[in-house]
Amino acid sequence: MITTYLTQTPRVPDLLKQINFLNLLTPAQPPIQIKNIFQTDPALSFSLPYQLICTETVLENPNENFISFFSDRWRQTEKIFFNSISEAAELLTQKNNIIYFHLPFNSIRRGKLIEDDLFKRYPSALKKFSYNYHPLAFPIQRYPKFGCFTLLDSQHLLCSSHTQSSIPFGIYHFEEDKTTPPNRAYLKLWEALCEFKTYPKPGDICLDLGASPGGWTWVLQSLGSKVYAIDKAPLAPHIQKLNNIHYQQDSAFGLNLKKFKKIDWLVCDIICYPDKLFSQFMHWTAPDSPVQKIICTIKLQGDLTDDKLKEIHQFYHSHSVFIKQLWHNKHELTLFWKK
Ligand SMILES: C[S@@+](CC[C@H](N)C(=O)[O-])C[C@H]1O[C@@H](n2cnc3c(N)ncnc32)[C@H](O)[C@@H]1O
Repeated sequence: MITTYLTQTPRVPDLLKQINFLNLLTPAQPPIQIKNIFQTDPALSFSLPYQLICTETVLENPNENFISFFSDRWRQTEKIFFNSISEAAELLTQKNNIIYFHLPFNSIRRGKLIEDDLFKRYPSALKKFSYNYHPLAFPIQRYPKFGCFTLLDSQHLLCSSHTQSSIPFGIYHFEEDKTTPPNRAYLKLWEALCEFKTYPKPGDICLDLGASPGGWTWVLQSLGSKVYAIDKAPLAPHIQKLNNIHYQQDSAFGLNLKKFKKIDWLVCDIICYPDKLFSQFMHWTAPDSPVQKIICTIKLQGDLTDDKLKEIHQFYHSHSVFIKQLWHNKHELTLFWKK
C-alpha cells in the first residue's frame, strides 16, 4: 500500500526521523519503507513550501498513527496516466463520485485546469475548500467529502480519496481577523478546532492554561463559551474586558480541577518540557477528572532526538489521543484528546 505524506519543506527531516523511529518501535511489523520523495520543479520550489513523500508498507503499521510531522496523509495513493485534461477529470470523476482538489506541485497550470473541469461537475460552493481559491472562514460549517490529486508531470497524477486532514491537504489559509486578537496564536486554535471537527458551544466551560496575552481565550469566548484563563502573566486589557472571561494570575500547574463540576474544554499552550506536560496530562485525563476534551501544544525545544520521540510516545496511553503538527505549528505539536 502506498501512502503519500504532504510535509512542510523544513519538516522533511523530522518526518524521515519519525518513520525510522516507528520502524524501531515495532521490529516485528513490516517496516515502513520510503518509496519516493517527490521534488517540485526547482523553479517552483520557492513558492511551494511543501514536499511529497511516498512510503510503502506491506501491512498496515499499527504505530503509524503516532505523531504526524505532516499536514496530510493520503492512504491508498494511486498513480494514474492520462493524455488530456478532460481525460484526467473524467478518470477522477469515475472514482467514488466525490470532488478531488488540486494540490499545486508540478505542471501547476494543467492541474488547475483539471480542477476547474471537476468544479463544473460539482456545486461551486466546494470551491472555498480549494487551495487555489478563497481563504477559509472560521468555523467550518460543513465539511465536504473529497479526495486530493497532484500532477507529477504533464501526464501522471497522484490521487487518493483516503486523506487524513479534515480539509484538503491540511493547508489552512484562514480569513484572518487583524483587529481583535492580541497575537496570531489564535490561528493555531482555529486550525486545531477545525481538525477536531468539534467546537466549543455557547455556555461551555473552558479552561485556558497559559492564556496570556489571550489569543486562545478570545477564540473560546467568541464561540460563546465561559473561559477561565490562567497565566502568571496578564491578559491584554481589551481581552480581559470581554464578557464571560475570568482571569486568574497563577501557575497553571497544580491547579485543583475538582472545583469544577465539568470542564468541557481544557486548552493549554504553556512552554514547558514534554515530561512535565505529560505528568499534567495524566492528571487532566484521570478517570475522576472533570475534563472532557483537551487541545494542548507540546513544545519540541531543540533537535528532534529519539529520546524526545520516546517522551512524546508516552502520551499515547489511550486510543483517544491524537498528535499532529498543524500547518500553523512551528517547533511544536498539537495534542487532541476526548474522554
Ligand atoms: C505561548 S504563550 C501562550 C499564548 C496564548 N495561547 C495566546 O493565544 O495568546 C505561553 C504562556 O504560558 C505562560 N506560562 C508559562 N508557564 C506557566 C505556568 N506554569 N502557569 C501558567 N502560565 C504559564 C507564559 O506566561 C505565557 O504567557
